[in-house]
Amino acid sequence: MPEAVIAGKQPIAADVEAGKDYYWCACGKSAKQPFCDGSHKGSGMVPLAYKADKTGKVFFCACKQTKSPPMCDGSHRAL
Ligand code: FES
Repeated sequence: MPEAVIAGKQPIAADVEAGKDYYWCACGKSAKQPFCDGSHKGSGMVPLAYKADKTGKVFFCACKQTKSPPMCDGSHRAL
């Protein structure tokens, strides 16, 4: 399994809209963190689809080590 690049060591807050689909960058190479920009091509990794269940601020994982993607679970503290 390919290893993700650590895009950041803090979660990234984003405002999401209920019912809207978002594509979280799982590979860590996107220049548009925390979302996919297509940079994963050739890495063997793909983005993770996330549908917001409510409108508001959420904290997406940037270190790509979370055990509950795409959300931050605090794993960055161990890096
Ligand atoms: Fe990282 Fe698409 S750019 S998953």
